[in-house]
Amino acid sequence: MRKYCVIGYPIKHSLSPKIFNRAFRQLKIPAQYEAVEVRPEKLAAFMRGFRKKYSGANVTIPHKEKILRFLDKLSPEAKKIGAVNVIVNQRGKLVGYNTDVFGAMVALGKEVRGQRSDVRCHRLAGSNVVILGAGGAARAIVYGLKKAGAKITVLNRTVSHAEKLARDFKCKFGALENFDPANCDILINATSVGMCSKETPLPQLKKILRGSKKKSIVMDIIYRPRMTKFLRDALGAGCRIITGEVMFFSQAAESFKLWAGKKFPLKFCLL
Ligand code: ATR
Repeated sequence: MRKYCVIGYPIKHSLSPKIFNRAFRQLKIPAQYEAVEVRPEKLAAFMRGFRKKYSGANVTIPHKEKILRFLDKLSPEAKKIGAVNVIVNQRGKLVGYNTDVFGAMVALGKEVRGQRSDVRCHRLAGSNVVILGAGGAARAIVYGLKKAGAKITVLNRTVSHAEKLARDFKCKFGALENFDPANCDILINATSVGMCSKETPLPQLKKILRGSKKKSIVMDIIYRPRMTKFLRDALGAGCRIITGEVMFFSQAAESFKLWAGKKFPLKFCLL
């Protein structure tokens, strides 16, 4: 029996065990998937035993960047992004991939390798995109959008983190309070804030958006709850929204392909 897992902290909210175990069962692949809570200070200890125990893993908050030092090899994309959300154990060699970028681009309506969501986003090339957050997930989204020709501003709680990301990818940066909808076609929450239904990275969002003539498209990468406060505020201000499950499901489907060499057999409606 092959074993897979998702590692993160917190991890209880994760839907990954449910969808991957269902997919393995459906395709009669002898494999099991579990969620493992790994606190930041325990990552090194956990990774020491990984090779012998697991055939692969998903990596989530807050390990997507820190995990790099425990891997033997990176895909060219993961290397450029500087973050990994999938590990494949290839006969004892740990290879890191990034499928978040694929998921984010599908969610934004870009056709990627024949897959596209229902969302009709306007052209990414030349559009102004504001990304909240400067962690591993933000890095993947910035990379994908930069390749698509978008003009990007990264806003973050810790401005020095945003500055580093902006330097790596040549974009603008600032503090969360600097958000200005007048110059924002697409707004994306790539922070880890919103898993609790009352939390949002921008408490003033509804007021700010209501006071603006321009209606940004607003996307969240948090998929549980589906309607985060961030998205509820955007909807309440008359904006179009993109929920996190499209990115979640698309990145998961790509992970499955890397591990099983087969197409993911499930559809979004199972979430
Ligand atoms: P991931 O790899 O999933 O992106 P991460 O690397 O831990 O996770 O990044 C989390 C992001 O959420 C960071 O941008 C973090 O901001 P800081 O750089 O200031 O730490 C942001 N974040 C986490 N908690 C936050 C909070 N309470 N308010 C605002 N931003 C927060």
